[in-house]
Amino acid sequence: MRNCCAVLLSLALSSVLLAQTAVREDSARRQWYIDAGKQTYAIGVNDQEMLQSLYWGPKLAADAKLPTAKMHPERASIDPPVGTTPLEYPAWGAGLYTEAALKANSPNGDRTLVLVYDSAKVSSSDELEVVLKDKTEPIRVHLYYHAYPEGVISRWSRIENTGKQTFGIEQAASAVWNLPQGTGYQHSWLTGMWGGEWQLHTEPLLTGAAVIESRKGSTSHQANPWFAIGKTAETTEESGPVWFGQLGWSGSWRMSVEDTSLHLVRVTAGYNPFDFYWTLKPGESLETPKFYAGYTDGGNGEASRIEHRFQTDEILPRRPAAMTPPPPRPIIFNSWEATEMTFTDQTQMALAEKAAKIGVERFVIDDGWFGQRNDDHRGLGDWYLNKQKFPNGLKPVIDKVHSLGMSFGIWVEPEMVNPDSDLFRQHPDWAMQFPNRQRSEMRQQLMLNLARPDVKEWMFNWLDKLVSENDIAFLKWDYNRNWSEPGWNTAPGTSAEHPNIDAEKEIWIRFVQNYYDVIDRLRKKHPQLEIESCSAGGGRVDLGVLSRTDEVWPSDNTDALDRLSIQDGYTHTYTPQTMAAWVTDVPHMERRSTPLQVRLLVAMQGALGSGNNLNKWSDEDFALGAKLTALYKTVRTTVQQGSLYRLTSPGTEGQHASLNNEVGASQVEYVARDGSQAVLFAYLHSMRYAVGYPTVRLRGLDPNATYRIKALDADKYKGDDTVSGSVLMGAGVQLRLAGDYDSTALVLERVSR
Ligand code: GLA
Repeated sequence: MRNCCAVLLSLALSSVLLAQTAVREDSARRQWYIDAGKQTYAIGVNDQEMLQSLYWGPKLAADAKLPTAKMHPERASIDPPVGTTPLEYPAWGAGLYTEAALKANSPNGDRTLVLVYDSAKVSSSDELEVVLKDKTEPIRVHLYYHAYPEGVISRWSRIENTGKQTFGIEQAASAVWNLPQGTGYQHSWLTGMWGGEWQLHTEPLLTGAAVIESRKGSTSHQANPWFAIGKTAETTEESGPVWFGQLGWSGSWRMSVEDTSLHLVRVTAGYNPFDFYWTLKPGESLETPKFYAGYTDGGNGEASRIEHRFQTDEILPRRPAAMTPPPPRPIIFNSWEATEMTFTDQTQMALAEKAAKIGVERFVIDDGWFGQRNDDHRGLGDWYLNKQKFPNGLKPVIDKVHSLGMSFGIWVEPEMVNPDSDLFRQHPDWAMQFPNRQRSEMRQQLMLNLARPDVKEWMFNWLDKLVSENDIAFLKWDYNRNWSEPGWNTAPGTSAEHPNIDAEKEIWIRFVQNYYDVIDRLRKKHPQLEIESCSAGGGRVDLGVLSRTDEVWPSDNTDALDRLSIQDGYTHTYTPQTMAAWVTDVPHMERRSTPLQVRLLVAMQGALGSGNNLNKWSDEDFALGAKLTALYKTVRTTVQQGSLYRLTSPGTEGQHASLNNEVGASQVEYVARDGSQAVLFAYLHSMRYAVGYPTVRLRGLDPNATYRIKALDADKYKGDDTVSGSVLMGAGVQLRLAGDYDSTALVLERVSR
């Protein structure tokens, strides 16, 4: 009976959410309106038959009408109409000098395209397809729009050759998002490096183009395919307009944010055109990745909350049903920092016993369990058990882990090979290479060419065997270098004797398609398997990989102070549910010693894990670890799936909060979806001038409700036990944090309305 009620309730909720998407066609004006959450996006065909963007902003009334689309006139002989009109998917042609969504070569020598309207189909209340065609050549471009009730629209394109001869594509974007024409915009983006990912930048949008990209073959640490654009005079964390978006592609990508001289502001993203080529034979299509975007007038904080909700409910795999979140992440222990590659089955089992004592739910063996992998010079590619370390196989270790009440996970790095490996000795041609050119090694390893069908089959088969023969619940899928010699002389249409460079360049796309395919097949065959995407830290995080993996490893840097900034940047674009966060030992890479409590609380802001060398933990460490792990279990659904409020940011770009506010304080708050619970994490990074801790005003609570406050540290919270939401948000709470790296947490349970 309860189940039946739950199903009815979830159906009722789904229909409320579904009502928040609508695709409406005004056939008289040849316009389409897409509502998603609290935003509307509108497009229309103009008097020159070209498709242009009409509107992107707050939701319009259901019967709203926008003026009929009109091609903007030639402003001067140097500003033709294709440059003065916010075209929806501008191809290079007719004098387009700004970023092109598409650039193609025709077999007759024409290298331009001029796309005009062909047809449109409203497939459902949340999906629209508009077809454009070139004025003369047999090229059609299908533009797809999908509306999600959380407040996100995805767009992608499919370029189709309807002729009898082969075309070549040199540039293909997923979509172009046009913002209202004007000035005064600010642009936020994320850059990074190994050990320093997720650095947030916000600068005024200057006339010209701001380009972020990866040419590395994968998403990369260097930048993440995300943007948030606000208005400098209006947008803050709490309010003001924000247009935001994310590209879902795990290969080389490019995103350009343009403010043309005429202040047409647009964001174009898709496959990186660098070294790109795609042969489009008659009847074939090239589909581009999804480019998701949304609008809010609730500031950067609300933009993040929309993204988080959208990702948990729509993107992440293993949802019990559409529009519901997957279960929150289990607490992981990973042995990497404790043992690196020097271990035996016995030492792993001893660590497992200790991990269980703290309340860990999943035990993961990292690098070093296979082949001759005793250091990072050898063994990658040899995915059979190292018999010296596991003389009796994996089973005794997995059984032991299970007997301790934990599930078992293991590390893999499938796309890599060490030259010193059996795999490389057998198949030297499987590594990416150009003829005669010395291959560049990074961390003594080479890239396997996963674009090759034989490499793909080999990879699927050994992963499938590993997971089928052992009770493995989780793979940490790593990827520790980038591309350097992307040759592929066995690509269809090329050979060592007669190279066809254009055919070989498809490696950039085919590799990633095969990577997705291997994961998709593996998950289909092993539906309970969970996967983490790791790439020397956070080098492969995007909505393409997150639709196939359950969590990511955002950074190898687990220093608590650095992590505060890394996590702050991460949550601007991705949900805490995906943010694996380990407590590790000190000193870490910053040679800083921080108390265990602050390290635990910082890791509790995401999917808590431990990478500690538990052999060195004292009884007090175990007691605190167990206490905070138990506390985490009571708040993790709120943390991972609730609404996140960055109350005071720790500062990024190497700028600590001590430079932003006098006492170097930062706080993050999470509110449960049903409002029944909230949790506050508060930090004092470095006390200065003996100034007291600032008042912390909470957000997102019910002003008419009363909350019972459970303080982690009785001596750091001196307020009442029950407090009204209006007081918590208006007057705030006083915390007594002092010294360096102090920290505390409050859990608030709603007791009445
Ligand atoms: C990468 C990962 C680490 C660890 C090592 C193992 O650096 O980011 O967490 O797995 O590889 O070699």
